[in-house]
Amino acid sequence: AEMLVFETAEAGAQVVADHIAQAVRASSAFTLGVATGSSPLPVYAALARHAAGGADFSRVSAFALDEYVGLPAGHPQSYAEVVAREVTEPLGLDPALVRVPDGGAEGIETAGDRYEEALIEHGGVDLQLLGIGATGHLGFNEPGSSFASPTRVKTLTERTRQDNARFFDSVDDVPMHCVTQGLGTILRARHLVLLAFGEGKADAVAAAAEGPVTASMPGSAIQLHPRVTVVLDEAAASRLA
Ligand code: F6R
Repeated sequence: AEMLVFETAEAGAQVVADHIAQAVRASSAFTLGVATGSSPLPVYAALARHAAGGADFSRVSAFALDEYVGLPAGHPQSYAEVVAREVTEPLGLDPALVRVPDGGAEGIETAGDRYEEALIEHGGVDLQLLGIGATGHLGFNEPGSSFASPTRVKTLTERTRQDNARFFDSVDDVPMHCVTQGLGTILRARHLVLLAFGEGKADAVAAAAEGPVTASMPGSAIQLHPRVTVVLDEAAASRLA
């Protein structure tokens, strides 16, 4: 992987956003894979500045990595709402071109397959933004997930529910399940850009980028991909060899 270490998250995010804006200028039919959580927020902020400066993202398609199962439609912490608020609106994407897995309880048995089909029919993702969990998860593929896994329903680990409790009133309000792109799905994207900032990510980053390739460290799947860029601040890079 190409490893880029910056003094601040904002500096790294600016480089990623400039690269995306350039790729969109070259081919307006660009498809962006969006992650939620904190790590990509400075990238979205930098892309919003490009949009405010006249960049046209209206023909960019977007596919989200994952969604909680069972939150009521319109719940502010559902990833459909988070993506609308943090990506679609500030960047000026066409909402018709933005897809998030369907976490509605009804039809949940087919939600993974339907999303997988939509991705394949669309022609896949050009650049997939990724964060990494303290457990090493990519998307919500927790340790033990197959490197060949497709989009499917998963149970969140207790650790991940605790980590995400900050977005809810309490950990009890964090859903138990999610629909997530699989590691196999993520590995089909043409370029992976993994963002990790802060000391709390240092161990996961070192294990993912330099440790053994193993299902017990889902992040190590990046070592199987021919085109990966890892964007770090100094704290997140501090345990690299
Ligand atoms: C988000 C996602 C997760 C996060 C990861 C890191 O769509 O799939 O894998 O990227 O939990 O979260 P943050 O960036 O909040 O530390």
